[in-house]
Order: sequence, then structure tokens, then C-alpha cells
Amino acid sequence: MASQPPPARRWDPVVRLTHWSIAIAVLANALLTEEGSAPHIWVGYALAAIFGLRLFWGVIGPAEARFTAFWPSPRKALAHLRDIRSKTVIRHQSHNPLGAFMVYAIWTCLLTIIATGMVMAGPPPWDAAEGEGEHPAAYAASGSEDEAEEEGGEEEEEGVLAEVHETAANLLYILILLHLAGVIFETRRSGRQVLVAMSPL
Ligand code: HEM
Ligand code: HEM
Repeated sequence: MASQPPPARRWDPVVRLTHWSIAIAVLANALLTEEGSAPHIWVGYALAAIFGLRLFWGVIGPAEARFTAFWPSPRKALAHLRDIRSKTVIRHQSHNPLGAFMVYAIWTCLLTIIATGMVMAGPPPWDAAEGEGEHPAAYAASGSEDEAEEEGGEEEEEGVLAEVHETAANLLYILILLHLAGVIFETRRSGRQVLVAMSPL
């Protein structure tokens, strides 16, 4: 067991900036914007851009920010659980092996939310998508029976996308709670100021 807390470290500015921007965008769309409204979609596209930057950084960024530094590994995660049980503190350069699984789980939810959201939103302008259940498809004038059938199909498809979008969002909320519990647990267990390392300033 480490007798002294290891020296403080800091994530690079891109990781810190993208982390807090993603957190703000998720909270804004979860709590502030109206589901499917133009602001919701704008925030959604901003989230997609920031997330894209973080993924790009995972390839070209500094060593500890790269995917290769925190590849999900069940073997390492089990070893980490053993360390927790035996109260052994190992200094990980990047996310710890359990944290790595959490990062990829959050990212998978974000990808699902962004992909389904973008398909539902379609190209701008987005004002037509405002309000619940008012899909852009519902605005098309229904001429023939064929068109009406086509529209019915589109609406059904949008219904499935909305279900997936909402389920992924709900899953993300659960992961965020577990993420916060993990941050508190790791800080208390290891004595490392993991939050200071991610501080926005
Ligand atoms: C993490 C951020 C996000 C959260 C928490 C979130 C949450 C939600 C929720 C709960 C709904 C209601 C789903 C339903 O009708 O059953 C919704 C709808 C919608 N979201 Fe998101 N969303 C997010 C990101 C996005 C993104 C990135 C886009 C697109 C770029 C987007 C576009 C839409 C659209 C178009 C709808 C309307 C669906 C419908 O017509 O029913 N959202 N969102
Ligand atoms: C609300 C939405 C949030 C989301 C979606 C989120 C997501 C993430 C993700 C994806 C990472 C990995 C960072 C990367 O490598 O780019 C991360 C790391 C981190 N987050 Fe969050 N986070 C959220 C909120 C918070 C909050 C409120 C706190 C502080 C109380 C926090 C503290 C941290 C810390 C300290 C790390 C670094 C963990 C480590 O050293 O391994 N997060 N978060």
C-alpha cells in the first residue's frame, strides 16, 4: 500500500475541455432543451463535434489520452479488482482498467444517441422537428395512397429511432451516476486527486 499520495497529475487541455463540454451538452439536452426541438438538435450537433474531437485526440493526442493507453481489458480489470480487495494502489498513467470500461460504455451510449439523433433530425432547418411526436415526415403533404403508406413507414422507423435514442439516453444517465460514484470511490481509495486532474481550469 502506498504510504504517501502520489504527486498530482493533470489531463491535457483537450481531454479536460472535451470532458466538461460533453458533460454540459449532455446535461443541457437532458434537463434544459425540449426533446427534438431546434436547440436540442443544435446542442446535439455541438456534442457530436466535441466528441469527434475527443476521438481524434485518442489517435493523435499525448500517450495517456490515446485509446492504446486504456484499451478495455477484462484481465486488467480483474487484476484491478484484486488490487482493490488487497488495498494495493497502483499508479495508472491513464484511466484505471475499470474506469476504461466505463469510458467506452459512456462513449457507446453517446455514439448511439448522436447517430439516432442525427438521422431523426435530418438536414437543417430543424424548426419543423419541434415538439414531441412531430416528426419532419409528418409535415409532408399526403397526396396519394402510396405516399401515405411511405409516410407511415417513415414514421414507424422514426418511432424505433426515438425509442433507441431515449433508451440510450436513460442508460447514459445510469452510467453517469456510476461514473460519479467511481470518481468518489477512487479518490478515497487511492488518495489521488482524480478530480483535480480533470479540473477545467
Ligand atoms: C446526450 C444528449 C442527448 C439526450 C440526453 C437526448 C435526449 C432525448 C430524449 C429523451 C428524447 C425523447 C425521445 C422520444 O421521443 O422518445 C429526444 C428526442 C430527440 N432528440 Fe435527443 N438527446 C440527446 C442528443 C441528441 C442529438 C445529438 C440529436 C441530433 C443531433 C438529437 C435529436 C433528437 C431529435 C430529433 C428528437 C425527436 C425525436 C422524436 O421526434 O420523437 N438528440 N432526445
Ligand atoms: C454529466 C456528464 C458526464 C459525462 C458524460 C462524463 C464522461 C466522462 C468520460 C467519457 C470520461 C473519460 C474522459 C476522456 O478520456 O476523455 C470522464 C472522465 C472523468 N470524469 Fe466525467 N463525465 C460526466 C460528469 C462528470 C462530473 C460531474 C465529474 C466530477 C464530479 C466528472 C469527473 C471525471 C473525472 C475525475 C474523470 C477522470 C477519471 C480518471 O482519471 O480516469 N465527470 N468522464
